[in-house]
Amino acid sequence: MTPEPRRTAYIETYGCQMNVSDSELMLGTLAAAGYDAAERPDGADVILVNTCAIREHAEQRVIGRLGELKRYMGRDTIVGVTGCMAQRLGPRLLESARHVSLVIGPDGYRALPELIDGARRGQRVTATEFDLEEHYEDFTPRRFDRVKAWIPVQRGCDYRCTYCIVPTTRGPERSRRLADVVRETEAIVSEGMTEAVLLGQTVNSYHDGAHDFADLLRAVGTVPGLRRLRFTSPHPNDFPDRVIRAMAEVPSVCEHVHLPMQSGSTAVLRRMLRRYTREGFLDCVARLRAAIPGLALTTDVIVGFPGETEADFADTLSAVEAEGFDDAFRFKFSAREGTPATRMPASESVPDEVAGDRLERLIATVRSGARGRNMALLGARREVLVEREARRGEAMMARTRDFKTVLVPAKTARPGEYLLVELTGTTGSTFTGAPVRERAALPLAG
Ligand code: 5AD
Ligand code: SF4
Repeated sequence: MTPEPRRTAYIETYGCQMNVSDSELMLGTLAAAGYDAAERPDGADVILVNTCAIREHAEQRVIGRLGELKRYMGRDTIVGVTGCMAQRLGPRLLESARHVSLVIGPDGYRALPELIDGARRGQRVTATEFDLEEHYEDFTPRRFDRVKAWIPVQRGCDYRCTYCIVPTTRGPERSRRLADVVRETEAIVSEGMTEAVLLGQTVNSYHDGAHDFADLLRAVGTVPGLRRLRFTSPHPNDFPDRVIRAMAEVPSVCEHVHLPMQSGSTAVLRRMLRRYTREGFLDCVARLRAAIPGLALTTDVIVGFPGETEADFADTLSAVEAEGFDDAFRFKFSAREGTPATRMPASESVPDEVAGDRLERLIATVRSGARGRNMALLGARREVLVEREARRGEAMMARTRDFKTVLVPAKTARPGEYLLVELTGTTGSTFTGAPVRERAALPLAG
C-alpha cells in the first residue's frame, strides 16, 4: 500500500510580530498533525490567513486578499481566517465570504487540526472563545526566521486605550511562566539562534505571579549562548527602576527601545486614555537614556485622533524633535467599531485632508531628525548580526544592537554571523557597512 501523501498547509500573515509568532505556532501544530508547510497557496490543502484588525486599512487588504485566494482553491481546499479580524468579526466573516469555512480567534489554535477535519466534512465553524490559560506551551513552533526567534511572553492587553481594538481581539492580559520562557530560549539557542525578541502587547507589564519583567530579562538574558535580547512593545508606565536597571546590567539586552508615544499632547493622551502625560513620557525617556548609554529609541505616533487641534499636533512635532527618535511608525487615526473613540462627538473628528497633511509633516520631521543623527554616525564601527539577503542588489541585511539596518557585501556575510563593520554610507535611514575584520559567532554553549 502506498502511504497517503502528506497534506500541505499555507499560512499568510498580516500585522504584528505576535501574529508572526502565532503563525509559527499554528504551523508547528499542523506539522505535528501531519501537514507540510507550503510556500505558496496554489495546490495547498489548507490556506489560512492570519489577520490584523488594528486599522481599517489592514482589514481591507485582507478582504481583498481573501477574494484573490479563491483562484487557488481546488475542490477540497479549506480556507480559514485566523487572528484579530477573525476574533472581531466571528460569524459575520462566514456570511460575507462563502468560500471561508473556518474563523478562529487567537486563543483557538489548539483545536486547529480537528477544526480543519470538521471543515473537510462540510462544517463551517467559528471558534472565538478566549482561554485565559492558553499559552500553547506544548506546541513546537515552526519558525520562519533562522536568525532571531520571536518568543511570546504575554498575551492580551489590560490597558484600554480608547482607539485600540486589541483588548477586544486578544482578550485580557496574561503572562507565561518565566521557566517556560527560559526553556524556549534555551531551545532556540540549541538550534543555533543567538537573538531573541520577547513579545507582548505591553511586554514590560509582564508578571507571572512570582516574577516581573526585570526578573524575566535577567533570567532570559543570561541563557548561555544568547547574545542579543530585545522586547516589543513596552508601555511607558511599566518601566520602574528595577526594569531599567535590569536592562542596563544584562549585557545581552540591546540598546534599543521601541516606546510608543502616540501623541505629544497631554490633552490628546488623556483622551486616548494612555495614562501618562507629555512630561511623564519625556521623564520615562530621560530615565532610560540616563541608565543606558547610546540607547536608540523608536516610537509609534497616531495623528488625527478625535479632537486633535493644530496646537496638539504641534506638541507632537516638538516632542518628536525633543526626543530624538531614530524612527517612528506613523498612523492616521482609524475608527474601530466598538472602541470608545468612536463614541466621541462627530464634531471632534479630524477631516481626512487635515490628518493626511499632519501625517506628511510628521514624516518630514521624523526623517530630518533621523537623517541628521545617522549622518553623524558615518565612520563609526558597529557589531552587526547578519539577518538575510537584502531585497535589492548583492548585499546582505544586517542589524546593529541599536537596531540600525546595515547593508553589507554578500561575499563577506552569512545569515546568523556577527561582523564588525564601519558605517560607510547612509540613505538617511539605512546604512552601508564595510567589514573591518570578521568575527566568527561565539561558541553556542558555555
Ligand atoms: N488607528 C490608528 N493607529 C492605531 N494604532 C492602534 N490602534 C490604532 C487606530 N485605531 C497604532 C498605535 C499602536 C500601533 C501598533 O498601531 O500607534 O502603537
Ligand atoms: Fe492597544 Fe493600548 Fe493595549 Fe497597546 S496598550 S494594545 S495601544 S490598548
